[in-house]
Amino acid sequence: MTNRKSPEQGQAHQKRRGLVPLILFGGLVAVGLGVAVTLNWPVTSSAGANSDDLVQVSLGTSVYTENCTSCHGANLGGQANWRIRKPDGRLPAPPHDETGHTWHHPDKQLFKITKSGVAALVPGYESDMPAFESVLSDEEIWAVLSYIKSTWSPEIKLRRDRRMQRAKQ
Ligand code: HEC
Repeated sequence: MTNRKSPEQGQAHQKRRGLVPLILFGGLVAVGLGVAVTLNWPVTSSAGANSDDLVQVSLGTSVYTENCTSCHGANLGGQANWRIRKPDGRLPAPPHDETGHTWHHPDKQLFKITKSGVAALVPGYESDMPAFESVLSDEEIWAVLSYIKSTWSPEIKLRRDRRMQRAKQ
């Protein structure tokens, strides 16, 4: 027996050497994708309002109780007959639960409405919805939206995600 490699073994060795950089490269791509997915996740599904973040949701719960309950209701049910304009032409406060249309809107819009009022989206629009920019920090606004989102069922969240995807296309 000699230690010399047969031509086939030599070739196999060559091939294996070629595989090492390939495996390293594959690993880098996998890590890169992992990071991209991780970073992208809050952007696609919640842009600042993460209903799975317990700290955010807990802050949001108290922000909601102090600032939103009076109109949108402790159980997020909104005001009676919220689809019918009042004699002054303004709408009552809609529910934030699944019976309303809060979940139809992207996070960024909800943020803008809460921070700057409905007129920020529809110039000149008269509404009883106050602008909270002088009352709440951006962090508190994202937190209260996280709380509202945390009350939606998985099914509504899924329907909402699909809606947002379609709106992007
Ligand atoms: C003084 C009553 C009042 C308070 C307090 C109030 N809202 Fe509203 N909100 C309204 C009314 C009325 C509307 C409907 C606006 C319209 O279409 O004219 C509304 C609409 C909204 C909408 C848009 C919903 C949709 O489906 O279009 C969001 C989001 C919202 N409010 C969030 C909040 C949050 C968050 C708070 C607490 C930080 C809050 N509101 C406190 C009265 C209120």
